[in-house]
Amino acid sequence: MASGKSAVGGRVAGRLGYRFIDTGMMYRAITCAAIAHDVDFEDHAAVARLPGAVTITMEPGPPDAPHGATVLVDGEDVTRRLRSPEVGEAVSFVSRVPEVRVAMVELQRAMAAEGGIVMVGRDIGTVVLPDAPLKVYLDASAEERARRRHEELRLAGRVETLDDVRNELALRDEIDSGRAMSPLRPAVDALVIDTDELTLDEVVERILEAGPCRS
Ligand code: DC
Repeated sequence: MASGKSAVGGRVAGRLGYRFIDTGMMYRAITCAAIAHDVDFEDHAAVARLPGAVTITMEPGPPDAPHGATVLVDGEDVTRRLRSPEVGEAVSFVSRVPEVRVAMVELQRAMAAEGGIVMVGRDIGTVVLPDAPLKVYLDASAEERARRRHEELRLAGRVETLDDVRNELALRDEIDSGRAMSPLRPAVDALVIDTDELTLDEVVERILEAGPCRS
């Protein structure tokens, strides 16, 4: 969370002329559907039924579009709702349910099969696309990520203290890293970039220099 992966991924895709998919948006979309259907997030069986009950469609846009795609749930454009605090608070609970993950991974592999794609998410290199020609793991200290997230929220007009942001981040990290299925970790063959001391452009250059994604 707040590693800069979406901003970096979008720019890398733009430079390569690839499509860009931020898979967090898919987990957020299914969370949106859970909220719309009044599903209790603690009720695993009810959450598990969601992927069969709703249709998530990602329409990749130009790489400079925020998060790269228009996201539809049952044909309705929910893109603007996906970053709401309500969705943000619930998404870790929904995304740890194995049936949800299996369904999302299937969709992600289908999108990647066409090639020419930058796909961003916590389990892309380890689970979704283990044969990807280039895997990148962006790292940043908790303090730096809290600072970035706080700034992002401030620019969006939302007032939260740095302490609240730190606490939210620690909770999300704990759930994402501790869950049984596809916990957050780097692939063994990933290029790990510590972004604390780097600008966005420097991170993008390092990835492009790494090369295997050049066709
Ligand atoms: O990157 P993000 O904050 O938009 O992701 C939202 C949530 O979705 C995050 O809490 C974890 C989950 N997620 C996931 O489990 N696997 C992915 N590939 C992408 C996101």
